[in-house]
Amino acid sequence: AGSGKFFVGGNWKCNGTKESITKLVSDLNNVKLEDDVDVVVAPPFLYIDQVKSSLAPRIEISAQNSWVSKGGAFTGEISVEQLKDIGCKWVILGHSERRHVIGEDDQFIGKKAAYALSEGLGVIACIGELLEEREAGKTFDVCFQQLKAYADAVPSWDGIVIAYEPVWAIGTGKVATPDQAQEVHAAVRDWLKKNVSPEVASKTRIIYGGSVNGGNCAELAKKEDIDGFLVGGASLKGPEFGTIVNSVT
Ligand code: G3P
Repeated sequence: AGSGKFFVGGNWKCNGTKESITKLVSDLNNVKLEDDVDVVVAPPFLYIDQVKSSLAPRIEISAQNSWVSKGGAFTGEISVEQLKDIGCKWVILGHSERRHVIGEDDQFIGKKAAYALSEGLGVIACIGELLEEREAGKTFDVCFQQLKAYADAVPSWDGIVIAYEPVWAIGTGKVATPDQAQEVHAAVRDWLKKNVSPEVASKTRIIYGGSVNGGNCAELAKKEDIDGFLVGGASLKGPEFGTIVNSVT
């Protein structure tokens, strides 16, 4: 941990029912969270309203996706304006499941980020390599190309948190080692320094995602360039998510 306030997001993905989410919110409301950490949860769209009205306001709400422009005739999409209307402060964009399962490309994701920022949402901008890309020695190339697409699209990096999520670590139980994560985080910061500005490099938070849990978070949090986490599976358990939020202290 080094740049700015530690940031922990819980990405609930496409999980939950009214009942299970009621229980999760109540567990989260009963967990003591350290003050000096930004905490965000991203429920499925359908449950955002329920979560917003029952979760302690100390935890901000994120969406898991947003439409690329102003709302209108876009069947099945959710607009940034609607997310703001319902109380979202953040949106996760460029998640590997949207890149590799849904097929979103770098440019489309960059445009989404620019639009969300222009409307005042914070953006959790995800990047990360596939296993075969890592094995082919292309980790940095892939991450830098994804970063460049954001950099080319956004007018400013205010409001962006970068989430490095190696795809091979997501939902696999195979967490990156602290050294593996630190190596990429440091490279991302260096890329920002050279290609955006030293100021943006030093103030932008770079968080890690991929099989983070209550047992491995403390070691990861000690690394200089790991400024927080984006948590999937373990964010569905209130007490364990609390442990991860508090891991930096
Ligand atoms: O966005 C968080 C995510 O992709 C990591 O998922 O389940 O490996 O923590 P998980």
